[in-house]
Amino acid sequence: MATAELLSNIYNNNIHKAISEQSYTENIEALYKALDGVDINTKFDPEKHIIFKKEDVEKTKRFTMKEFGLENEKQISAIGASAPFPLFSKEAVDIMRAEILRKDVFLQFARISPTSSSGLDGSVRGFARESCPFTYEAWKHPKSIEAVSSMAGVPLKIVMDYEVAHTNVAMKNPDDAEQETIAHNRELINKGEFFGKEQMIPSIVGWHYDSYPFVAVLMLSDTKKMIGGETIIKLGNGKVVSVEGPQLGYCTVLQGRLVEHIAPKPLGYTERLTAVSSYVAADPLKHEESVLHTVKPEVLFGSRYTDFYTEWIDYRMKLIEERAKYLREKVLNDQQNGKLFEKEKIMKFVEDLENYVGRTWKEMVVSDEEYAKAK
Ligand SMILES: [Fe+2]
Repeated sequence: MATAELLSNIYNNNIHKAISEQSYTENIEALYKALDGVDINTKFDPEKHIIFKKEDVEKTKRFTMKEFGLENEKQISAIGASAPFPLFSKEAVDIMRAEILRKDVFLQFARISPTSSSGLDGSVRGFARESCPFTYEAWKHPKSIEAVSSMAGVPLKIVMDYEVAHTNVAMKNPDDAEQETIAHNRELINKGEFFGKEQMIPSIVGWHYDSYPFVAVLMLSDTKKMIGGETIIKLGNGKVVSVEGPQLGYCTVLQGRLVEHIAPKPLGYTERLTAVSSYVAADPLKHEESVLHTVKPEVLFGSRYTDFYTEWIDYRMKLIEERAKYLREKVLNDQQNGKLFEKEKIMKFVEDLENYVGRTWKEMVVSDEEYAKAK
């Protein structure tokens, strides 16, 4: 059970896990100052700021679910993951960095990661619509959604505004010994060692499935001196494969709800910012199995209780409305067109809808185990 103190922290948006002013000054301020001259009032211009071209779909390696050995009836696309492809220009990335690294924004929205050992790993969530209009416009623009969709092989939409540009922030960890371990273990992986070494890969988040069907991961840092930064994926046959990480302004997509993965800590970085946006299929009738296990406010400090759950209910109810409307119109049209009532099919549709409604509240249940981790 949750203690009164824990609940009070959660209702107060886990503000006790915010970055301290001192930590901001020591670790973040210099990054912000380096962007002196970047105008955050620049209006997002898709012609200039989106560097994706249609030809990039053909030029970029895309791994199918079949290649991963993970093909199944729940997938919303035949594509499992893509190699990095160009999405936003350097100027766009600079503006995004300048927006998010401002002191007031950073202190308000950033939270220390529950698994941060250095105290310098954190995430910034649910900030874009309210405080970073350029970032928000960039991700919500139909052209960038189209770019991500075409790489993902299915029309997508951003699941909710809260999941626009979830930004992971990692600062340099001075512990060289740990970095050596990472290098050593990555070597094992690269040598094609069989799956089973997974516990040995230091990462910010362990092996997991994402909460939403698709993610797009955008690199907001210079990766020239970075070693690694790839995503390692567990194949259907138990082996693992590594998908190269993106360079600045580049993006990868991943059907993370169905593909188990881990992002090992890279080497040689002084700062690493990645922005992750999450998507569901644009078609409301497509299979939709989002969950909350990695993002609910009781387990992820950056999910602010009221803001997050309000958006969750909004997105679920919208989808339920769309499905109900579709069904209603379908039966009326069928009757008008003299078609026989398709009882079995309609019963199945309503049963699925009932399950979807049920999962909406069941996902919000918090186990004792989850509460225990949420300190
Ligand atoms: Fe993930």
